[in-house]
Amino acid sequence: MADVTADGGGADVLRGQGCAVILLGPPGAGKGTQAQRIAQRYLLPHLSTGDMFRDHIQRGTDLGRKAKPLMERGELVPDAIVLGMVEDRISQPDCERGFVFDGFPRTIQQADDLEGICKRHKLGFTIVLYLVVNPELLVRRLTGRRICKASGHIYNVYERPPKREGFCDLDGSELIHRADDSEAVIGERLSAYDRQTQPLVEYYKLRGLLSSVDAMAEADTVTKSIVGILDGAKAF
Ligand code: AP5
Repeated sequence: MADVTADGGGADVLRGQGCAVILLGPPGAGKGTQAQRIAQRYLLPHLSTGDMFRDHIQRGTDLGRKAKPLMERGELVPDAIVLGMVEDRISQPDCERGFVFDGFPRTIQQADDLEGICKRHKLGFTIVLYLVVNPELLVRRLTGRRICKASGHIYNVYERPPKREGFCDLDGSELIHRADDSEAVIGERLSAYDRQTQPLVEYYKLRGLLSSVDAMAEADTVTKSIVGILDGAKAF
């Protein structure tokens, strides 16, 4: 197995062909954690629609004002808003050779539109990594999550605590607790996932694009499984 921590260690494999990597799974499955690592290894931009919305909210844009109350309740933002924001982002030059999506697509409509986007970008292939986690683990992962305000690095007070409580190991910045990581909102996010996003598992299975990954294992083990799938992608 190649060194899974090496920056750019697999760049030729995916960028050479142009690839859309999609991380699919419920809230707390580890999409953000794994997307950061994949993006670093394969030199592809990490596109988190949740992070994009949080950035709009922080900057007080119109889009942020529309998304904020929905996100606070744990509901999905309407497809038209999401798709406009995604189209803008992937028209940037860094997305020409592909991207790693975390939190998108989340509805059948979004998946249909993404298919068109990939054709327009002439990407060689799409891989959907479905992170499978026992539902009981998700609440614990989400309530324990802390995120570095500056770098976005993800911690967990139960599983991967920082060395100094409340501060990032990498740059000493403050760690934040997401507003929607309260138990009340988590319940609604999980039910929105079941209703609107889970059907994508079948959607991508039927298209032969889905690879399931046991995401209950320790994060480094999950990364190794994913790298095994992506490094073998030439054979797809
Ligand atoms: P978003 O920000 O996308 O949140 P989410 O999908 O609910 O996913 P999370 O970020 O909560 O979890 P994750 O799977 O990334 O887990 P993580 O790696 O952090 O969306 C937020 C909101 O924005 C939505 O509710 C919606 O309103 C809106 N939105 C966004 N995109 C949209 C779209 N396309 N359409 C419509 N609306 C949209 O890990 C979680 C914790 O577990 C961490 O503490 C981590 O350290 C720990 N952990 C991770 N992996 C492991 C492991 N293997 N073992 C132990 N602990 C682990």
